[in-house]
Amino acid sequence: MGITGGIAAYKAISLVRLLIKGGAQVQIICTPSALDFVTPLTLSTLSKNAIHSHFFVQETGKWTNHVELGKWADAFIIAPATANTLTKMANGYCDNLLLATYLSADCPIYFAPAMDLDMYTHPTTTTNIDKLLAYGNQELPAGSGELASGLEGKGRMCEPEEIFNTLDRHFRLSTTLSGKTILVNAGPTFEKLDPVRFIGNYSSGKMGKAIANSLAKRGATVHLVLGPVDKGGVHSRVQVTNIENTHDLYEACSSIFKECDAAVLSAAVADYKPASRADQKIKKTAKEFTLDLVKTKDVLKELGAIKTKKQTLVGFALETQNEYENAVTKLEKKNLDFIVLNSMNDKGAGFGKDTNKVTLIERTGKKHTFGTKPKTEVAEDIVDLLSTYL
Ligand code: CTP
Repeated sequence: MGITGGIAAYKAISLVRLLIKGGAQVQIICTPSALDFVTPLTLSTLSKNAIHSHFFVQETGKWTNHVELGKWADAFIIAPATANTLTKMANGYCDNLLLATYLSADCPIYFAPAMDLDMYTHPTTTTNIDKLLAYGNQELPAGSGELASGLEGKGRMCEPEEIFNTLDRHFRLSTTLSGKTILVNAGPTFEKLDPVRFIGNYSSGKMGKAIANSLAKRGATVHLVLGPVDKGGVHSRVQVTNIENTHDLYEACSSIFKECDAAVLSAAVADYKPASRADQKIKKTAKEFTLDLVKTKDVLKELGAIKTKKQTLVGFALETQNEYENAVTKLEKKNLDFIVLNSMNDKGAGFGKDTNKVTLIERTGKKHTFGTKPKTEVAEDIVDLLSTYL
């Protein structure tokens, strides 16, 4: 556990108690300013370990090995994480023991921001949090309520019980899919028209990345074939193959699928591509311009055709009308085990958003409907159902 200097540091004391009661071994690193809020005596009594706060310990004449601490932990929770520490973590600063350990750690890292309202909403803070998420760290989001300043709003540190539950789930889930190899594809495809233009779509790849991350967190070996989108935010254990067009997506997926127990194809694949690609930029000399398009390979259908009885195949259906009927037709035509129906008519669902609303439809006809949720939670619902097939 890392504790930084904010008033919410008092909540870290309850968290230590919960972790110890839950059977964890806890080592605590306090930044120098955290010690203005909590005492080493309280923390060491509860954690049953000496508290670390400096690189060099005067009393013993010994150096605190931050690398060893970083490698020792199965998880690193930084709670509370102040704006100052978040900034330093996001930018690779290393001027205290907590930051050096953060940079050395190769375990999952959770951070719980805690600060006053305007600090929390300041663009530097939101940019730093986005950066930390893109590096694969996980946020324990702050709650809303009365803040130490007397202001009302977001910035209260996530409650110790919630943090404990998140970690409990993390450790319970971390091995449920070990030994399984799973292919995920995500993002758009770009079909080149000439050296400067392409046909593409607005897919952000967020849904597929969240599925890949959820699978990796449960111990699966995950291959993510990713279209041309931001490459950040992918779990360090996910093996990424970057592609641009449908042809390369098909080649990558069909070769990886052979060694997989399951595949989840969420990519927004182009259905047609230009019949030919111009070597030079197309000039606007013609009065009218007609583009000839030819069909691309349906990657999902191709995998459905070679799927063995032992493999599970999951597809997506993005619909604007007759949603359910169209999804069921795709489920059958493409030989899937279940399909994730996205309706473009639902608010909070679709391309580029951070939330989604899905219905999972199984081959047996069984339907699972969910409300609008963050894509990370939708991914958990999809992976929960997939796990029952594995
Ligand atoms: N898909 C694919 N290859 C394609 C087109 C789609 O693998 N060339 C996959 C998508 O990744 C998704 C599923 O098929 O998992 C359904 O995609 P969707 O766009 O909803 O449907 P289409 O099959 O393209 O049919 P239509 O566009 O007519 O609705």
